[in-house]
Order: sequence, then structure tokens, then C-alpha cells
Amino acid sequence: MKASAPGKIFLFGEHAVVYGKRALVTAINLRCFATVKKRSDFRISSSLGITGLDYEKHPYISYAIRRFTEFKKINGADIEIESQIPIASGLGSSSAVTVSVLKALDAEYEAGLTNEEIYEIAKKVELDVQGIASGTDPFISTYGGCWLIPERKPVKIGNIYFLVIDTGIKSITGDMVKKVAELRREFQEIVDGIMDVIDKITVAAIPNLDKMDLTSISKLMFINQALLNAIGVSTKTIDEIVAELNSMGIAAKLTGAGGGGCVIGVGEIDMLTKATERFKSAFFVKSEKEGARIEELEKE
Ligand code: PMV
Repeated sequence: MKASAPGKIFLFGEHAVVYGKRALVTAINLRCFATVKKRSDFRISSSLGITGLDYEKHPYISYAIRRFTEFKKINGADIEIESQIPIASGLGSSSAVTVSVLKALDAEYEAGLTNEEIYEIAKKVELDVQGIASGTDPFISTYGGCWLIPERKPVKIGNIYFLVIDTGIKSITGDMVKKVAELRREFQEIVDGIMDVIDKITVAAIPNLDKMDLTSISKLMFINQALLNAIGVSTKTIDEIVAELNSMGIAAKLTGAGGGGCVIGVGEIDMLTKATERFKSAFFVKSEKEGARIEELEKE
């Protein structure tokens, strides 16, 4: 069986969400595909290599298998991964691989898992591997769509193209979350104040996403990036990309944990297209309605 699940971007509110504030997160039209076939031992094949159960090289897939066997005992599986989502860049590739593997395992071995169960297992896998996680990524990857987190309120979003520029630098979520926590320990009132403002930005963005009011969204993105910068999760590379996009009339911010990863930009489509000529690593994404799904297997 072949299944797929989408990646995601934080539109607004990353880091603030760690402190109970709201964030807007959407699934994107880049997917991870997992093909699972019955086999007597475990074989995992991806762009990272071919292994058996391997908690170093394929941690998310290996833990996904281990967690799946708590529901259905299996002695082997052939798992092949093809992903359109860049790895470790804050676009949710780990969750997409976990959710797509669980969905394909469920279908191949007829375990009868609901999407909510797949989400719950994927959340556990994220914790198994990372030790700490908010569960946002597996939620978006399982259900698709655009959501207000932590309320889990669906948010309407127009047909907006987001420019994505990968800095090519790994974004380590745990390190960035820790960095903000340290700043907050020293200056709690100030950092809490910033988080409150980010929460207001997130809420202000909701009606504008539906109306596709690019001017207002741009202004809100600009303020959000300035505040992410203030809490120390932006970098020189990110700042340079953001400044250059700003000079082209494109509002931009980091997406996800920061420290590397990706920058997203919003603006008129001809400006965005111009930016793809300037930045080699630039590409477009849009919001994706569909979450985890079964794919037709090509005839062999
Ligand atoms: O870079 P990502 O996709 O892991 O996003 C991290 C977002 C944070 O708000 C910094 C942490 C979290 O778990 O919500």
C-alpha cells in the first residue's frame, strides 16, 4: 500500500505557541510518500540509505514501526520513502514521513486505525525521537488544512502562494526552544510581552488570510519577523534573505524554530517570481486541504 502525508509551514506564532499562545499553521502541497509491502524482515529505503530497523539512520520510521506493533504484531515490512519535503528545514518532513508510514502500515496490515489514532501514535513517535514536542506537526500532517493552534480551530485560507527559501542550514527545534526559554528566565515580563503581541498578530491574520489581503498579511509578517528576531531565533542568513525580499516588495519571516531552516515570503506573484530567479533554493507552496491519504499504487 502507498500512502502520503503533507508537510507544513508556520504562518504566524511559532515559539509563542510553546507558551500557550496561538499560532497559525498550514499543511503545504509538498508530500512524503510511503510504500509498504509485506516482507519477513524489515527493510527501510529512503534518500538516507537502505537499512533494517535503524534508530540512528531512520529514527522516525523505526519508532513508527515499533509503535505500530503495539496495535498489530508484524515481523517485517518493506518500506520505501519518496519525499518532496526538504529534511530538517522546519517544513515538517519528520512528521510527514511518520504519518505516511503509519497510514501505509495500517492499510497494508489492515489494522483499522482511525486518523485520530494515527495522529496519537505519530505524536508518541515524535516524543520517542525528540524527547519534547508540541504535537503540532503530526496533527497538521494527519489532518491537512490550515489551523489555529492549540485550539485546533480550522482557519479559512485563500489561494495564496507562499515563497519558500531554504537557508540550507539545519534548524534544530530543541536548541531554539531552549534559547528562548533561557531569555525568558532572565527577562520573563519582556519575553511574555513579546509572546502576547505575537498572539495578537496571529489572531489579526485570520480574517486577512480568508480575504487574501496581501497588504495586511505582509505588514503582520513584517512585525512577526521583527519579534522573532527580538527573541533571538533569527540569524544573519535569515536576516539577509528577509532584507533582500523586503527590498523587492515581499514581506518575509522565518518559519518554524529558526536558527536556520526556511524563510517564507508573501507578495504579488510577479515579485515572488522575480525572487525565484534571485534565490536558487526558492520555491512556491500553497495551503493543502488534504491530510494523510492512501495513494493508488502504480501498476508494476
Ligand atoms: O521548526 P519546527 O517545524 O520544528 O517548528 C517549531 C515551532 C516551535 O514553536 C518553535 C516549537 C513547537 O513545538 O511548536
